[in-house]
Amino acid sequence: MTSTDASEALPARLSPPTPPALLSPAELRGHFDVRPGYLAACTMGVPPRSSVEALTADLADWSHGHPEAGRYGAAVEQARSAYARLVSVPAEQVAVGSQVSVQASLVAASLPEGAEVLLVDGDFSSMVFPFLVQQQLGRLSVRCVPLESLAAAVLPSTALVAFSLVQSATGAIADAEAVLEAVGRHGAATFCDTTQACGWMPVDASRFDVTVCHTYKWLCAPRGVSFMTVAPSYQEKLVPAQAGWYAGSDVWGSCYGPAMALAPGARRFDVSPAWQAWLGAAPALELFARADLEAVRESCTALATTLCERIGVPPTGSAIAAWPDPSGAAFAALTAAGVTASARAGRVRVAFHVWNTADDLELVCRALGV
Ligand SMILES: Cc1ncc(COP(=O)(O)O)c(C=O)c1O
Repeated sequence: MTSTDASEALPARLSPPTPPALLSPAELRGHFDVRPGYLAACTMGVPPRSSVEALTADLADWSHGHPEAGRYGAAVEQARSAYARLVSVPAEQVAVGSQVSVQASLVAASLPEGAEVLLVDGDFSSMVFPFLVQQQLGRLSVRCVPLESLAAAVLPSTALVAFSLVQSATGAIADAEAVLEAVGRHGAATFCDTTQACGWMPVDASRFDVTVCHTYKWLCAPRGVSFMTVAPSYQEKLVPAQAGWYAGSDVWGSCYGPAMALAPGARRFDVSPAWQAWLGAAPALELFARADLEAVRESCTALATTLCERIGVPPTGSAIAAWPDPSGAAFAALTAAGVTASARAGRVRVAFHVWNTADDLELVCRALGV
């Protein structure tokens, strides 16, 4: 090789590998077989084909007496790592669990006696009850304020602000920047539930001390797969009160006490996984971790915004369009037209995910006569 050859080859060898192109909304849509009129991702997502295949194959193996615990453990780690990429934190900061309420309970029970917690009026109960229980025990003091006043309500006495990034009942998006600015001024911590956000909009969990996400909605996993991210600075404040064998440094070497060596990082907050659910979750999370979520947000919110405009309610920039329906008439009309929507807290909710198109929007508008 001449010196010219060598210097020509060098830049190619040193240049970083090109990251794989992100999946466009149309490419992501191609992984789903959802029927027209399914507008209920805010209640329950639907699995991509790869999840159905993984679950079906496992059912066959399991029923023939060939279950493989190692395969389940590998799916948990694959899901953890895909989720970590999705929300921009290292996998060491991600704990696995099964429900938001259980992970929120750990956060609530770990706060020091007398701590003041700020919550959102009407937030999903899994983010509220764990704190109210601790208040009833006389351990915490809780204040609930409207979503719009959350940032302004942070006081020097506030220890933790706990809120859903996207509200379940209304689809409203919290002003996370304003909350972060306020907690920064007052020295409080943040605990954010991203269940109704992850999957249709970009989410950066590294901005918060703790986040939780149940993945059976917009991330299209089976129910029973949830994650908690814990910033390194908050890990010492959280008590691994629910530790079992999965919280051990060596999971399969931690099956019996009293020897206990808990895992480093957020893994010590892991609980043993509902195995089969994770087999379905891993492929779904891989897909969303590869998706262009800014483009997914644009496609979902464009449909929701048009629906709001046609109904005459103010658009919120959310993928969930929700408006008052006290009599249930709108929900009934949608159901009669073959639309799967949902009714919550006196409202009807229509959720636009990546599989929904302008045809779904027209179906909804026809059913509502707008
Ligand atoms: C914002 C939010 N968090 C959490 C959940 C689910 O809570 P859990 O995992 O405790 O069942 C829901 C379900 O609707 C939700 O909307």
